Amino acid sequence: MDWGISNRLCRILKPATGRTVMLAVDHGYFLGPTSGLEEPRKTLAPLLPYADSLMLTRGVLRNCVPPGIDIPIVLRVSGGTSILTELSAEGLTVAMEDAIRLNACAVTLSIFVGAEGERETLLNLAHLVDEGEKYGIPVLAVTAVGKDMVRDARYLGLACRIAAELGAHFVKTYFCEGFDGVVRDTPVPLIIAGGKKIPEKEAILLAWSAVQAGASGVDMGRNIFQSECPGGMIRAIRAVVQENASVEQASKIYDQARGAAQ
Ligand code: R5P
Repeated sequence: MDWGISNRLCRILKPATGRTVMLAVDHGYFLGPTSGLEEPRKTLAPLLPYADSLMLTRGVLRNCVPPGIDIPIVLRVSGGTSILTELSAEGLTVAMEDAIRLNACAVTLSIFVGAEGERETLLNLAHLVDEGEKYGIPVLAVTAVGKDMVRDARYLGLACRIAAELGAHFVKTYFCEGFDGVVRDTPVPLIIAGGKKIPEKEAILLAWSAVQAGASGVDMGRNIFQSECPGGMIRAIRAVVQENASVEQASKIYDQARGAAQ
């Protein structure tokens, strides 16, 4: 692999563990001001010290992230649809040159396997990989799931493998039963999304189970910034991903932080 791509991947997937705690705050690109992210600047400030990487759009990056911060940026470069319409019809929204100007460490887009936008979004991925290879920028493919799609190992395995075959350097997907098989069948690192807000201990268990099954970390948003104690939650998830903490140890970190914040 190109040295620049490898080096940028190592800034995200920390070499000591091969894993990342990626904080996802890109939700506004199709959801608007979603709960917990009404004022991204305020949400982000206390969480950034505990994140290994940050996934967001160029608008929030430019306006809400201090340029002095030392954190690898995973820039969302797909969109063009909203929660009110057909989500899968995404196009590319940022030129690679602008991603480079913004000092992005990686770019990311959603692919919609099995949905209306399948062909277009897979071709977007192939195009983005070509652009990324030109400049040494890795591409994170996000396996988005439509309302009617089952998040099982068969479907997610299909979507992740297609993403890797088209050249994605790493892939974000969902945890599922049989996730170790999805990891086995995908020849690039996999990270998992947190998904909708669930009780904190369940989210900690989700991250732990994913890492045990071979995930290279998490790309987690709502289960952190919508938590009663976002700072405690990111610390707990960090302990699981980077320090191999057990669910009990991580839950204790969360409980202590929540207790101290009250
Ligand atoms: C969804 O399309 C976005 O890319 C989110 O960044 C991703 O789903 C991770 O966030 P969450 O943990 O809230 O699912």
